[in-house]
Amino acid sequence: MSRPLTATVNLDAILSNYHYAKQLHPTCKAFAVVKSNAYGHGAIPVAKHMDKDVDAFAVASIEEAVALREEGIESPILLLEGVFEDAEWTQCEQYRFWVTIENERQLHSFLKSNLEIEKVFVKLDTGMHRLGVNQDTASEYVEALRESGKVEEVLLMTHFACADDLSDLATLNQLALFEQTRQKIGDIKSSVANSAAIMKWSVPEGGWIRPGIMMYGISPFAEISGAELGLTPAMTLRSKVISVRELNAGDRVGYGFDYQAEHAHRLATIAAGYGDGYPRNAASGTPVLIAGCSGELAGRVSMDMITARLSSDSASLKMGDEVVLWGEGLPVEEVAHWSNTIGYELVTRMTTRPNFVYFTEPN
Ligand SMILES: Cc1ncc(COP(=O)(O)O)c(C=O)c1O
Repeated sequence: MSRPLTATVNLDAILSNYHYAKQLHPTCKAFAVVKSNAYGHGAIPVAKHMDKDVDAFAVASIEEAVALREEGIESPILLLEGVFEDAEWTQCEQYRFWVTIENERQLHSFLKSNLEIEKVFVKLDTGMHRLGVNQDTASEYVEALRESGKVEEVLLMTHFACADDLSDLATLNQLALFEQTRQKIGDIKSSVANSAAIMKWSVPEGGWIRPGIMMYGISPFAEISGAELGLTPAMTLRSKVISVRELNAGDRVGYGFDYQAEHAHRLATIAAGYGDGYPRNAASGTPVLIAGCSGELAGRVSMDMITARLSSDSASLKMGDEVVLWGEGLPVEEVAHWSNTIGYELVTRMTTRPNFVYFTEPN
């Protein structure tokens, strides 16, 4: 038996979550955000499966975009952060990428070139203070790009800092500033909404939404899981019990002896560790499912292995038992919570070590 750690990815779930995002905003088109290797799910297989059904893809860098084109992806692809170096503009034209412009250097290097780009998204900083330009500058950029005659359509975009926090009015303030700028410019389409905004905030209709985490069936909100939001989780990370031992009361386990048995119980060693992307800071008590029963980590996560016990009577635990680390029956959000992080990070930092298996649902 080769190492039994497998990430199964339901490609149809990703597509149906994408369609769900679109249904929430029927007047909008949608970017399928596949940056960071499709949030760890595998950008190439995910994009290949979606290519005929999406309006466009969005990625973070030209390398991610070129990799998709070279694998035959035909849909438009947006560079969410634009170009990092002037030399990238030639590839943008060659591969028909759409581009974000968020600073002066990007604008001027494009205007100086003799290249044409179909769609340019001017990024407005509405308060997140990460990327983008202020209201007046954004209007000037739009005008300059329109006047250049080198762009078919110029759009206005922004990004929210706190859309996952429904009690934080910052999103409304960001939206108000965005709308004010949009009205000042006049006839311009917009793109503002990430997953949290798509699901919970009222966003301008008729533009482009940008669903990322929700496509993978994962919630952007701390208190509610993807499944509870009506999404279908796409990835299940499974492994097997590769060793079983009987612990006596007082026996200690793993690096640093982080766990000590309070009473005698059986302990499972499972093939999965931080070298695979399983979070090292998952505490003892983090849930796992062993042969369909509730279990919990007992001891520190090591590079290749974790140790766990069943939450009630561990007597039935045996070698070869299947273990779900997250996914079907165990939301990744719950594991993230125990690991003091978010679902985004758990899936995105998956390494290439697990065996990735892709499937679609039979019609
Ligand atoms: C500019 C931009 N738009 C959209 C997204 C998608 O966000 P989410 O995964 O929260 O839907 C991201 C992700 O970080 C982003 O940076």
